[in-house]
Parts: sequence; structure tokens; C-alpha cells
Amino acid sequence: MAEEKSRWVLMATAQTPTNIAVIKYWGKRDETLILPINDSISVTLDPAHLCTTTTVAVSPAFTADRMWLNGKEIALAGGRYQNCLREIRARACDVEDKEKDIKISKKDWEKLHLHIASYNNFPTAAGLASSAAGFACLVFALGKLMNVKEDNSHLSAIARQGSGSACRSLFGGFVKWVMGKDENGSDSRAVQLVDEKHWDELVIIIAVVSSRQKETSSTRGMLDTVETSPLIQHRAKEVVPKRVLQMEEAIKKRDFPMFAQLTCADSNQFHAVCLDTSPPIFYMNDTSHRIISCVEKWNRSEGTPQVAYTFDAGPNAVMIARNRKTATLLLQRLLFYFPPKPDTDLSSYVIGDSSILEDAGIKDLNDIEALPPPPEIKDNNVTKNKGDVSYFICTRPGRGPVLISDESRALLNPETGLPK
Ligand code: PMV
Repeated sequence: MAEEKSRWVLMATAQTPTNIAVIKYWGKRDETLILPINDSISVTLDPAHLCTTTTVAVSPAFTADRMWLNGKEIALAGGRYQNCLREIRARACDVEDKEKDIKISKKDWEKLHLHIASYNNFPTAAGLASSAAGFACLVFALGKLMNVKEDNSHLSAIARQGSGSACRSLFGGFVKWVMGKDENGSDSRAVQLVDEKHWDELVIIIAVVSSRQKETSSTRGMLDTVETSPLIQHRAKEVVPKRVLQMEEAIKKRDFPMFAQLTCADSNQFHAVCLDTSPPIFYMNDTSHRIISCVEKWNRSEGTPQVAYTFDAGPNAVMIARNRKTATLLLQRLLFYFPPKPDTDLSSYVIGDSSILEDAGIKDLNDIEALPPPPEIKDNNVTKNKGDVSYFICTRPGRGPVLISDESRALLNPETGLPK
């Protein structure tokens, strides 16, 4: 690298989805490497509605590694960022950009500093696995910038060291995180089970539930559970291994009743081990419980499951409907039980793929007021608590990470390497 050329900036921009586990990861056997005590399975959510975009840049003019999240500079000092940066740098290769006349050799990467800008297209504070999409996107984008030769499954073992669930965001469709056996974590990686086209009738509706309290972080929660819950050992050793096999079969065969039964049971058992922790951890709240009972009642009245529900380390409900018709009926039910506060703008209350709202025949708040009670309700004495749900997101299974070649969509200025 000649000194006179020290003003160049080389960048890569990527977009990476978030994911929601249908067989949960809860509990680590190694805190630093982030190695889990069981396999887990997730569905990747459509990046059109929930994703992270990250631009990474390198320049000899940079004096330190720096990162901006949603426009605000954040500290990169945390061990998890440092672990990801160290691991990806160790795999960097020679890079040549003939057009810009830039040559970076493998050994230069150790000395060069990076600028990183990341943006979530959904509220970071909503508790929607933003760290999963974030770390996956960071590792994927750096892999491209540094010409890392490893495939996405190997990259997933690096993203895992940022946030466990991030390793599953390196693929679209349904993804399995294999817990692995190696002490160094090299075989604890994500693999794609099927791509997003395999089961494309599925529709996903997320209820972002208003929460009053700050939840226990997943890191703290898992630690406490592994230390104090007798139930977690039974779950990890006896229950999950069988469930993972059944879930893989259900996904392969698109067997919705089996899929829904396993998804709901696994979410409920995850929350049971949280309750079995000392002190007990409560992630779900009253609204979460009401959503469960609404779905359970409906599924029972139909004789076969129409909708699966799952909850992560927070009160938000993720509901997976067997097809579009069912999703329409689900949205009608959800809006009946959880109407918006007066004067709410409907387009900010149901976001994402709002065409489901049109299918449900809902154009304004009056249409919500006029929704009849679902037929499975025996007594008409239902409480409707306006404001218990902040908003709904309609989405579907989606694709894995992609590189964005259009430089106008980069989050960093190509001349300065600073946020635009
Ligand atoms: O990767 P973390 O530390 O955000 O933990 C995720 C834990 C759950 O979301 C509750 C389950 C899962 O498998 O994603």
C-alpha cells in the first residue's frame, strides 16, 4: 500500500434477515464461545419487513475501528464484537479492486481499521432479535469485504460468537443450529434445512406487545437457568433431541399440525424452564397469555391447528398461520381482541405486508369496531384492552443474507467512510 494512495475507501454493504426459533436455544455450555446445550431450529423472516443493513469500510486513513448503529456511534469494546472482528480478520484474504487501483494483502488486514454502519428497518427496542440480524450482517459483510473464502455455515460459527441466535440468520427458510461437540466450537454451526420457497404458504404475524418492565437479558437468564433449574437438564437431554427430529420431519413434509404442536409446546417449555429458574424469570405478560388462549381456543374449535405461536425472551407473540386464508382470519381475531387506541393510524398499527389487512376487509378503525366476535367464543363478555399491543407486523418466511452492490444504498460515504 503506497502512502500516496492512503485516501482510498473500500466498502461492502449487505442485508441480513432476523429469525425466530421454533425449537428454542436456551442455555450455554461455554459462555465465551457461545456454545449451546441443545440444537435449535428457526424460521428466517422476510427481510423486506425485518432486516439489518450493514456497510463495512476499510481505509488506511482510518485510525480506529468504529461502529454506528441506527446513526449513533456505539462502543466496539465489548468482547462479542471483538471476538467476531478477530475471527473474521484471521480468515481475510488478498483483495484487489482493479477499477479503484487498490490492493490489500492478507497480512494488511491485521493493521487496517474498519468503519461499520448498521441500520435496522424495525424498532431495535421492540425485542425482535435485532442482535441476531445485526451480528449475522456484520460477519457476512466483513466476509465479503475481506474476501473470506468460507461458506455461510462456517461464517455462522463466527456470527455465533456475537449472539448465539445470529448464526441462524446466515440462511433463509428453515435453519438448524447444530450444537456440535468440539470444545473449540468449530462444529457448532447453522445449516439450512429447506429454503424459503419450500413452505411458502406460511404467513407470520407478530404482535409487538407493550411492556412495562425491562426484561432479564438472554445472557443473564440462560446463566441463571443452567445454574438453578433442574428442568433444563431434562429439556436439553431428553426433550429437545426428539423434538428436533420430529420438527425436521414436519418441515420436510409441510405437516402443519405437527409443526404447530411442536412449536407451541417448545415455546411453552422454554417459558416453563424460565419459571423453574431461581429467581424465576417472567418473559410473557398478561397480553401474551391472552394471545395464547385466543389461539388455543380457536385451534381446538377447528379440530386441527390453524396457527402456531412462539415467544422469545420477551412478551411479543410470533404467530405462524398455515396459509393466507388462515392469516386473514387470525388478523381479524387479533384486531377484535386487541383494537388500537382511538385516533391510531391503521397503517402504523398493522405494518409489513398490509395486503392481509385488505383481504380481511379492514380499511379503517370503524371496520375494526364492527368486527364480530369469533364464533368459538361462547360468552360475549370479552374484555378488549386497547393499547395492549403496540402494533402488528405481517410477514412470511424469507431469504438469507444478500450483498447490495448499488453503492447509493451504502450507509457510509464512499469518500470519507463516515455515516451519510
Ligand atoms: O442469541 P440470544 O442470546 O439473543 O438468545 C436467544 C434466545 C431465544 O431467542 C429465547 C431463543 C432462540 O433460540 O432464539
